[in-house]
Amino acid sequence: MNARALSPFDRLLIDAQNALDTVFGAPLAQRANPSADEPDVVLDEGERRHAAGLMRINHVGEVCAQALYVGQAAVARDEATRAHLLAAAQEETDHLAWCAQRLDELDSRPSLLNPLWYAGSYAIGALAGLRGDGWNLGFVVETERQVEAHLDEHLQTLPNADVRSRAILEVMKADEARHANHAQAQGARVLPQPVPTLMAMASNLMKTVAYRI
Ligand SMILES: [Fe+2]
Ligand SMILES: [Fe+2]
Repeated sequence: MNARALSPFDRLLIDAQNALDTVFGAPLAQRANPSADEPDVVLDEGERRHAAGLMRINHVGEVCAQALYVGQAAVARDEATRAHLLAAAQEETDHLAWCAQRLDELDSRPSLLNPLWYAGSYAIGALAGLRGDGWNLGFVVETERQVEAHLDEHLQTLPNADVRSRAILEVMKADEARHANHAQAQGARVLPQPVPTLMAMASNLMKTVAYRI
């Protein structure tokens, strides 16, 4: 289908469908789960709960990434930027599916607040996108760098025995670094303060809440 032929209403319906699939559906990964060959070591109760809290944060992070990119794409002026954003959202679907599978294995569940995280991130994405395509790409770079940093933090605090979560986070971290570099190469501008600081504050709030709920 030619994206130029879509009316604003068509786009709205597609975005609504994506929101429902992300929040309530069971997204399908296109790549194999990186944890598939790792042993499922039995964790003690404290370790299991901690690992589940971290994987819930990572799952919410992927819900937010989807929503940000779809929100930005909704208002992108340039077709190449829109295509880049939608392709990035597609790749995050693998991460979303892998995190959901691991949460299930850990006898846990995704955040109950996912509809709220999705709506907030979509709004932020659309607002950022309205400032122009250089900003759009700058926003992708900043988001991916921040996700990469918190994945690093999680890799350090995950229980040593949780090799399955670790395998997933390592592949995600490499993907996020690639996403940032790609957006950089496409002409991202550097976001001025206080935007990066506000984004870091919002992500810290999300992490604190999503660890538990
Ligand atoms: Fe991701
Ligand atoms: Fe990413």
